[in-house]
Order: sequence, then structure tokens, then C-alpha cells
Amino acid sequence: MHSVYWIIAVLLAVGSSEICYAGPLHAQCKVEWYFGIPCQAVYESLVSQIKKWETMASCTMGGEKCLYKLHSASVHFISAKHTTPFKKNVYDINFRLVSFHFYTCCHVSGMSISETWYAIKDHGTNYCNLYNLIEGSGLTESRGYKEVTSDFLCTQRSSANCTVY
Ligand SMILES: *[C@@H]1O[C@H](CO)[C@@H](O)[C@H](O)[C@H]1NC(C)=O
Repeated sequence: MHSVYWIIAVLLAVGSSEICYAGPLHAQCKVEWYFGIPCQAVYESLVSQIKKWETMASCTMGGEKCLYKLHSASVHFISAKHTTPFKKNVYDINFRLVSFHFYTCCHVSGMSISETWYAIKDHGTNYCNLYNLIEGSGLTESRGYKEVTSDFLCTQRSSANCTVY
């Protein structure tokens, strides 16, 4: 009887340590952004940028700043998909917007994840999916702009070249 418990305990320990050390299984990315402008303005910038980059036209000079598709949008939550123009990989992206300092500032949590479960290395594509929208809409130049992320939160973040991906 005791040996059964012992085996279960070992299995649980092995299982949980694998979860802890493996890092993200999918290539994915989570970024926190802070802006010194109201969420309404951030929301309008992001939605209009997604719409500007809906067609293949914005990729004729290269890069992957095209084929975004808005799924749903409110001032609290924006959800979209991004398809890469050549490999046709599909990514789910979303932004959660939370006001702070009496609605004068906005905290945005961005998330991108590949729909393909085996895409573990992504050359920073998940990061660029999000960053290109923030940069393209001019939000990187806005008052109080601050970004918080890491290579753990974003697969291959530090080697990402968002001109290419
Ligand atoms: C990113 O890629 C572009 C196009 O290939 C290149 O011109 C640029 O130098 C690269 N940037 C970095 C930081 O590697």
C-alpha cells in the first residue's frame, strides 16, 4: 500500500518539475506596456492600425506587417489574428487594456500565441506580432511609454528583428 503512494508521489514530483523547467511549450509572447494616455486613445490607435494592415498590400516591401484580422474590440479587450504572409502561420493575439491614475494612464497586457502547437522556435514572431502594432500606430512615441517583457515571457524576444518578422 505504501509503495503505491510512494510511486504516485514520485510521478507527481517528476511531472511538476518538468512543467516548471520546460518554459513555454508553444512559442508565445506576453508583454506589459504602460502609457501616459487614456485607454480610449490606445484602443483607437490599435484598432485603426489592425485595420490598416488587413490586406497583403502593406507587405509588398517585405516584412510581416499585413494580414491582421480584427476579431472583436472594446476599450477593455481587443482580439485579432495575424497570418504570416509567406508561411501562412496563424497567430492569436489579444490586448487587455486597464486604466489607472483616474483614467489618465493605460496598462496594456499583450499576448500572442501560435495556433500551431509545435512551433517552439519563432524567431521572435510572437513578439513582433504585438510590437509592430504598438510601433506602427505611433504608441511607442506616446507620453510615459514603457515596455516590460523578457525572453522567458516572449520566445526569442532579444533576437527578434521586427523589420523582418
Ligand atoms: C533586421 O533586418 C533588416 C533587414 O534584413 C536589416 O536591415 C537590419 O539591420 C536588421 N536589424 C537588426 C537589429 O539586426
